[in-house]
Amino acid sequence: MARESESGLPIEPVYGPQDLRGWDPTQKLGEPGAYPFTRGVYPTMYTGRPWTMRQYAGFGTATESNARYKQLIEAGTMGLSVAFDLPTQMGHDSDAPIAHGEVGKVGVAIDSIDDMRVLFDGIPLDKVSTSMTINAPAALLLLLYQLVAEEQGVPADKLTGTIQNDVLKEYIARGTYIFPPKPSLRLIADIFKYCRAEIPKWNTISISGYHMAEAGASPAQEIAFTLADGIEYVRTAVAAGMDVDDFAPRLSFFFVARTTILEEVAKFRAARRIWARVMKEEFGARNPKSMMLRFHTQTAGVQLTAQQPEVNLVRVAVQGLAAVLGGTQSLHTNSFDEAIALPTDKSARLALRTQQVLAYETDVTATVDPFAGSYVIEKMTDDVEAAALELMQKVEDLGGAVAAIERGFQKNEIERNAYRIAQETDSGERVVVGVNRFQLDEEEPYEPLRVDPAIEAQQAERLAKLRAERDQAAVEVALAALKKAAEGEDNVLYPMKDALRARATVGEVCNALREVWGNYVPSDAF
Ligand code: 3HC
Repeated sequence: MARESESGLPIEPVYGPQDLRGWDPTQKLGEPGAYPFTRGVYPTMYTGRPWTMRQYAGFGTATESNARYKQLIEAGTMGLSVAFDLPTQMGHDSDAPIAHGEVGKVGVAIDSIDDMRVLFDGIPLDKVSTSMTINAPAALLLLLYQLVAEEQGVPADKLTGTIQNDVLKEYIARGTYIFPPKPSLRLIADIFKYCRAEIPKWNTISISGYHMAEAGASPAQEIAFTLADGIEYVRTAVAAGMDVDDFAPRLSFFFVARTTILEEVAKFRAARRIWARVMKEEFGARNPKSMMLRFHTQTAGVQLTAQQPEVNLVRVAVQGLAAVLGGTQSLHTNSFDEAIALPTDKSARLALRTQQVLAYETDVTATVDPFAGSYVIEKMTDDVEAAALELMQKVEDLGGAVAAIERGFQKNEIERNAYRIAQETDSGERVVVGVNRFQLDEEEPYEPLRVDPAIEAQQAERLAKLRAERDQAAVEVALAALKKAAEGEDNVLYPMKDALRARATVGEVCNALREVWGNYVPSDAF
């Protein structure tokens, strides 16, 4: 009797040659580092160097987050990954009424160039690659990063890193959007053009399936809706006059890794093959780098339990292994206590140690795509690919990702799958160790890290000081120029940079754009 996979596909008790009859490895796999990249985006993958160990971190004020980044660098992390608090992610200043209670909570509070300077104090920006999980105001944080690098004497063409900058998935699953789809896509195209001209090694977007997975998407839904968003972004940039090979090499992706290793490995391999084919056949890309689906992975936060939290160490190790066997370029392993609170220094270090064990104590880095040719993996890769392509066609039939979003299609599909998972968990059909089986009579106490609420007052003081000290007239001139560019066709990042350099705040810049573009109001089509 076949079990069902997370995507609702059969997992047979035994696989054999009959499952791969007529299967052509040259057509289906290709060589590692070559089209269609099923086996991985680089010829040598981890045999030369491991994936980037890139731990998502940030909380409180820039001072506290700066200290955590230095601890992570000390502990061996290979890339930075900035978590911003919700006011920053939504384009509000820390002293805005709407920000009350959220300042410094789920990430670091960044209001201005002053905060950004503190965040990277003592960290040479030509020596690290920095990911920033920022979407609607991604342009602002990128420019603040560039301005701080300028102050360090680091030229923009030496900067490496990524902005998430993927607003479509915010409408579908995460919610940190500001502007309606049209101006949001215009802003993203402006960022692509700006980076091509000014910051050529910067990854301009991290097209994300992670948050859709956390909201309940199956593996097939996760890659289908993510790649459909990617197609929308490529169409937008081409419509804005860019040649596909001018921006596609700097697109990147972001997926989840679940404990269901076999299907996750199949999912990553299927996603690479679909994307390669779409870029070559639909968009006529000629540069192989335009066809490479390079991605970051975060282990599944939604699978962490508050009960017996140490058991999460095992889950994260299994999920991390799935990402590595699937060929990730960059990896964040969750801390075991994250279902309870922000990670402590110790739990954050343990999360990194998990990656170091995978990279330096196992043999999974000794060879490329070790599961290639496996009956079950190749069959599941084909099956997940077929299921994803079917869903992508449904999105296409609705007019593409934005049209489907406005019909609530992706959100409805994900919520239906989330409901099924919840029912299976409640019935016990889906085992969650420590939660619906193997529970403890008495949970052991655990002392989580707490964020000091005084942070909000500290940030408000910093903002009052900044506004008192700066050249207010210069700020107003710069904001007026920004609004004029937003009303027209000019790239808004240039006047935006002038405003930020003049110490305009994140909230003021976003409010200027809100005056021109308005706020997105989700349709009630769900
Ligand atoms: N052979 C040849 N070259 C290799 C190689 C190999 N085996 N391995 C690496 N390299 C080269 C690469 O070509 C690259 O050089 P290039 O930039 O000149 O091309 C360099 O070494 C770095 O390698 P990668 O680009 O593969 O690795 P990075 O770590 O630099 O980049 C990425 C990975 C996925 C492309 C990038 O976009 C990235 O870092 N993304 C991270 C995104 C992230 O951290 N997101 C966090 C989100 S948190 C969130 O949203 C969840 C929260 O809401 C809960």
